[in-house]
Amino acid sequence: MGNENIITRMKNLFKQTKPEVVSAHSTNVGAFYDSTTSKFMEVYGEVIQAFRTTDVKVYLDYTIENAELKDGQKILDAGCGVGGPASYFAEKLNVQVEGITVSEVQVQKSKEIIASKKLKGIVNIQQGDYHRIDEIFGSNIFDRVIFLESFGHSDNKSLLIEKAFKVLKPGGILYIKDLFKREHPNEEDGKKIDRIINEINKAYCYHVADLHEVLAAMRRLNFILLFVKTPEVKVGEFEHLTISNDFQNLFDIAKIISWEDYVFPIDFYEIKVMKPPFDMNKEKHLYFLNRPEAVTQL
Ligand SMILES: C[S@@+](CC[C@H](N)C(=O)[O-])C[C@H]1O[C@@H](n2cnc3c(N)ncnc32)[C@H](O)[C@@H]1O
Repeated sequence: MGNENIITRMKNLFKQTKPEVVSAHSTNVGAFYDSTTSKFMEVYGEVIQAFRTTDVKVYLDYTIENAELKDGQKILDAGCGVGGPASYFAEKLNVQVEGITVSEVQVQKSKEIIASKKLKGIVNIQQGDYHRIDEIFGSNIFDRVIFLESFGHSDNKSLLIEKAFKVLKPGGILYIKDLFKREHPNEEDGKKIDRIINEINKAYCYHVADLHEVLAAMRRLNFILLFVKTPEVKVGEFEHLTISNDFQNLFDIAKIISWEDYVFPIDFYEIKVMKPPFDMNKEKHLYFLNRPEAVTQL
């Protein structure tokens, strides 16, 4: 066997065990979750989301409704954690869920979780970088791409949105639920918010998103905006984010030392957009009524 052949084989072997990641930051995120996933699971269970209901199933049902997850769909859960949400969706619906996480430890944990459930649908979870989903899965594949408190880890959100656009089928939906930097009423609060956001980013390997930038990136691609809103959770069912305080206090991660100087730095939002079922670049002189029902009449 020639040298070149050996090198190619070794490269392929390396690919199978350690998928290449786009940036050093994504590698760090993987290492972060490799070392913290057991801690997260101790506090959060199988669903690693801070904004939730006391009974987390109520929140997952809400997600099914709002992301319009339905029987027969092919869904990409981008940043799927240990597969708690993906396996819940496949327990309830006859769907095929592909999950991707950058953490090897999470893939291992997800295997036990999936095996412990009676699924109607199919769940496959693999290690990989969600900035490369087009290379991993191909174009025009998914009915839904969902990011559940995972999008904000990205250090290149425009690229990530482009990749989501690529892997979605025309008419498919991108659904993001995450935290976004709060706008501030004055300079003093602004400085406090910036400082606290920096602490969150450092502690959780995050890049808390800016809503304007995210929406601009989506609109540049002609995604059809369906809604941006605060998750509509009933006050009596809301968990009030105590879970993230418990986690921070227990493991001394981003622990809040004093509440006196604290300005709440983020808003939680859901964003739902549709990939247009037609090529918006073909007939640029036309105005398309950007409503899904109008689209089906074209
Ligand atoms: C806060 S957890 C949320 C997990 C899951 N969505 C849930 O609801 O339980 C963030 C997830 O994003 C994933 N993630 C972050 N950056 C990623 C990347 N570049 N590629 C793939 N997954 C990534 C992490 O591996 C982790 O699974």
